[in-house]
Amino acid sequence: MELITDLHTLRQTLALHREHRRTLALVPTMGFLHEGHLALMRQARHHADVVVTSIFVNPTQFGPNEDLAAYPRDLDRDLDLCRSAGVDLVFHPDARDVYPRPPRVLVHAPDLANRLCGLSRPGHFQGVCTVVTKLFHLVQPDVAVFGQKDFQQLAILKALVEDLNLPIAVLEGPTVREHDGLALSSRNTYLDPDARAQATAISRGLFAARDAFQGGLRDPQDLIRIVQQHLDAQPLALPEYVELVRADDLTPISHPIDAPAVIAVACRFGRTRLIDNIHLNP
Ligand code: PAF
Repeated sequence: MELITDLHTLRQTLALHREHRRTLALVPTMGFLHEGHLALMRQARHHADVVVTSIFVNPTQFGPNEDLAAYPRDLDRDLDLCRSAGVDLVFHPDARDVYPRPPRVLVHAPDLANRLCGLSRPGHFQGVCTVVTKLFHLVQPDVAVFGQKDFQQLAILKALVEDLNLPIAVLEGPTVREHDGLALSSRNTYLDPDARAQATAISRGLFAARDAFQGGLRDPQDLIRIVQQHLDAQPLALPEYVELVRADDLTPISHPIDAPAVIAVACRFGRTRLIDNIHLNP
């Protein structure tokens, strides 16, 4: 497995692969990898000759009061994990190389970004879209793989690829969970034992809502209430939103559900903000 930190070497190395007509898959990450990331890498392995993973804590997607400086990092451990998942090349650039000057051009998806997580994280998805567009141009992958846990991000990046006519197939990997249902996230590491125990209310609520849906409940407000009740029972939970939206355009559903939908949750436990979601297919 190769580790490349500069943009020029990355371009040269990947050009060589392309000359040999090898297909490329990209799995963008911010590092501090967990089983969820590794599942995406293994998925990528099935779809391309060369698997590239980027490890880059992207400053432009963090707000001024967010956890950019504290974001967990462990490159040596990440490299071992990438190797074990069959990654061929890790791209780990310096922020000064990715952003040699404050960006003059940004990529924005206002309709999809100005809702759900975008309301409490203004500029977040613009940072994500901008860095992913840069990575797409640098790597020029045939395939890119993203996790369903970041459901809004996935919807936005699919729209980015479609609207900007990028010749990239976007694949999605299912959310990987702890044994008690908590969705894996690099930020779980911030949770103290009490918050960690209470955080399972998110997935328990989502699973209960999904069970009710499968049992025939179709009213969005009733389904949302099931999730809220699970969160309200936890003294440390500070729910930011529980919403039921259409899976395609993320708009809220106010009538009985008749199209693929998602219940999406963001909830804080102390300073840790967690997100999760569940798909409902009528
Ligand atoms: O999902 C993430 O880890 C990040 O948002 C991404 C896609 C790597 C962009 O920095």
